[in-house]
Amino acid sequence: MNKFELPNHSLMKQPEFVFGVATSSYQIEGGVEEGGRTPSIWDTFCKVPGKVDKGDHGDVACDHYHLWQQDIEMIQGLGVDAYRLSIAWPRIVPQQGLVNPEGLAFYERIIDECHARGLKVYVTLYHWDLPQYLEDKGGWLNRETAYKFADYAKVVSEHFGNKIDVYTTLNEPFVSAFLGYRWGHHAPGIVGEREGFLASHHLMLAHGLAMPVLRENAPLAQHGIVFNASPAYPQADKDQLAADYAAAENHHWFIDPVLKGEYPQIVLDRILDKAPMVLEGDMDIISEAVDYIGINYYSRDVVRFDENGDIEKVQIEGAEHTHIGWEIYPQGLTDLLVSLKDRHDNLPPIYITENGAAGDDQCSGGVVNDEQRVRYFQTHLEALDNAMNAGVAVKGYFAWSLMDNFEWAFGYEQRFGIVHVDYQTQQRTLKQSAIAYRNMLIERAEENK
Ligand code: FCB
Repeated sequence: MNKFELPNHSLMKQPEFVFGVATSSYQIEGGVEEGGRTPSIWDTFCKVPGKVDKGDHGDVACDHYHLWQQDIEMIQGLGVDAYRLSIAWPRIVPQQGLVNPEGLAFYERIIDECHARGLKVYVTLYHWDLPQYLEDKGGWLNRETAYKFADYAKVVSEHFGNKIDVYTTLNEPFVSAFLGYRWGHHAPGIVGEREGFLASHHLMLAHGLAMPVLRENAPLAQHGIVFNASPAYPQADKDQLAADYAAAENHHWFIDPVLKGEYPQIVLDRILDKAPMVLEGDMDIISEAVDYIGINYYSRDVVRFDENGDIEKVQIEGAEHTHIGWEIYPQGLTDLLVSLKDRHDNLPPIYITENGAAGDDQCSGGVVNDEQRVRYFQTHLEALDNAMNAGVAVKGYFAWSLMDNFEWAFGYEQRFGIVHVDYQTQQRTLKQSAIAYRNMLIERAEENK
């Protein structure tokens, strides 16, 4: 297949629907000691033996710090409407109380270049690269970090204002809180139930504190937050409660505070004294209205109760998985979006801010045949169309990722790009999936003329 197909009457064919590609700062930039940047928790974490596959790190990554201009030209060449990137906090505020003009200038060049090439810019303020100096004071376990985030959001939004088309406060607070502070798979590598939930509350507070600041400084931009969400299915009927709980911890714990101003009771009932300390007024701050929510969808969870009554994930025999081991399950995207619509009367419009597949892609003779990824995108676009037909308001879709990059604890082994990166030469090569995406977008542009 050399072109993704959208159903004839799909709302995604309309020119207002935004198609884009996404990346994040630490995963692509490199240049970790350049331009006045100081270390983030990921620089530190990568140095801890055994934490990242093969000892990989983001020191160079895709060298986007130097190659940004050609990368943006490449994005334009794909025919997308928008580019979703993130700003590295330690480039902007390299020390407490210090604003780094060089950091602001780096992103300003990128934003200007995107606009000059007709691309809208979606900027995430926090995609996991917390300044190490804040971690030294407790990181997200310290309530103060939420206030520091609002200060950083102020610096960025005062500088860029409406120049940033769409602001995102946080990317996937679940991952920051639970992989970082509960299970220790991600930076800063802390393990503890209480810690994980406390970090989650401070992250949500950070989001809420930043919202009015962003609105004031960028009144014409859209403002919101991005969640990862995997719908959960019971392995057998007896496991329905396990599935309800899994979904609650996976995404309702993060989405409910924003849209309902409360944490889901089912989780509070289970974690009991591990629940975070919530001060009076916190939930009002967190539930400030957002213009959209971003959903990152990759796969689903199938769960059951084990013999101790704990919830465990099970692998589905015979199902197709990607290289990273995640089941390919497009129907989950439809189910998830419809379930969110049913749960929240006030569900704001949704962007699919990430969706994609990891491969073990080889480039040979300038061709990367990523057949599985091509099918992955095609079937997920259809699943998204089904959700939209069922009445879910979706405004855009971003492929994760523009190019292969540093996949956190998995290092460079897992390639999520629609563009292949040769890390020896920094050569970029469009994979078949990028070509199919581009061809679909060219056709859509023709039809909308
Ligand atoms: C998401 C992250 C993104 C990338 C993809 C595969 O959880 O937001 O940075 O790692 O998964």
